Amino acid sequence: MKGYVVLISVVAALGGLLFGFDTAVISGTINFIQPYFGLSEVGLGWTVSSLLFGCIAGVFLAGKAGDQYGRKKVLMLAAFLFFLSAVGSASAHSLVFFVISRTLGGIAVGVASILSPMYIAELAPAKYRGTLVSLNQLAIVVGILVAFFSNYLLVDTGANNWRWMLLVMAAPAVLLFFSLFLVPESPRWLVARSRNDEALQVLIKTSGKEFAQTELKDIKETLKNHEESTFRDLLAPKVKPLLFIGIILAIFQQITGINTIMYYAPKIFANIGQSNNSALMQTILIGGTNLVFTLVAMVLIDRFGRKLLIVVGSTGMMVMLAGLSFLYFTNQTSGILVLLFILGYIAFFAASLGPALWVVAAELFHNRLRSKGMSIAIVSLWMACTVVTIVFPIMLQKLSGGITFLIFALICLANLVYVLKFVPETKGKTLEELEKEFAK
Ligand code: BGC
Repeated sequence: MKGYVVLISVVAALGGLLFGFDTAVISGTINFIQPYFGLSEVGLGWTVSSLLFGCIAGVFLAGKAGDQYGRKKVLMLAAFLFFLSAVGSASAHSLVFFVISRTLGGIAVGVASILSPMYIAELAPAKYRGTLVSLNQLAIVVGILVAFFSNYLLVDTGANNWRWMLLVMAAPAVLLFFSLFLVPESPRWLVARSRNDEALQVLIKTSGKEFAQTELKDIKETLKNHEESTFRDLLAPKVKPLLFIGIILAIFQQITGINTIMYYAPKIFANIGQSNNSALMQTILIGGTNLVFTLVAMVLIDRFGRKLLIVVGSTGMMVMLAGLSFLYFTNQTSGILVLLFILGYIAFFAASLGPALWVVAAELFHNRLRSKGMSIAIVSLWMACTVVTIVFPIMLQKLSGGITFLIFALICLANLVYVLKFVPETKGKTLEELEKEFAK
């Protein structure tokens, strides 16, 4: 039983791996695509952001199509789009073709960012749901790391090096597509489509015979008397507060600065005068730390709960950022301390807000509204991500590192207060139990 659920989660998490890879791979290609397509700095910015714009479209697509055609089929579509994007961007000879291909990849990232964690949450037994959904975050992190490594290995392959870097993604895309044939559809979605017998079969395999009947009954209960849902239903009085929590937590996950560190790490290190090669080493250190501490979160999240993890994590992130800010203010940015604070920050993020956001976002909403609710929360994440990516270099230049990191530290503090006050604990309960609790 456990093995089967793990298999399902691993397959779904391949969506997370592609998400991580696709968002990170571009950083290694920038120096080559810029001269190839003759891009100005602004043009490069837009070309790189094309993925993020695709993401936003993909998230909405997932919200609607995930309900209509099922989680599995739409994930298959995402796998296909990842493949097209890899082949398309790798073979592009014109900028338009390149941007279209990257945008298709963005759509796939958007879809996977919703459906992979949601699908795992809908199939996982309550007891392990936090750990299993966090597997998706682990896969995102692995995807980022694989992208950094493969870019590094391919950099000396000649003028077409950037094409090879982008093409690598075709392999996991094919793997995701075919491995989806091995896993079942989400039982919660099946019940919503009145396919109760099939749902029962899946539940027997994931939760055991005894528990399956009760679970089916509970799922049916939450779905009875409900028509087809619309985005407007998210504004119902009992749902709106949950929607806000999802949105605000998603925005916090980004504006506490994770991607400024993840993607600008080589730049930050270059700014403080390290050679290119050690900048690469530091990037790998960052990826490694991210990976190890995501594993820590997987062990802790169902034991201590999502909330405690976020509270401790945000506090740690705040302290690390304040330290970083201090180093900038006092002009001590060339030593080992910078690296330690950055790694500490990543460790706290990875052990808390990184995975916990995805877990909570997949748990907040009703069976009937999950894909739509989650899509609105995650679209806010992608928008916040876009804004931070654009604004951070400007902040660094105009405000100095000291003030920039101090602002991020204060945002961590705000996140901490918000979570303590508003975010409910969701560990250990079935999605239906949570639904009943939130309806009170
Ligand atoms: C975030 C990404 C981030 C990644 C890094 C994810 O949870 O949503 O924006 O790049 O974690 O580990």
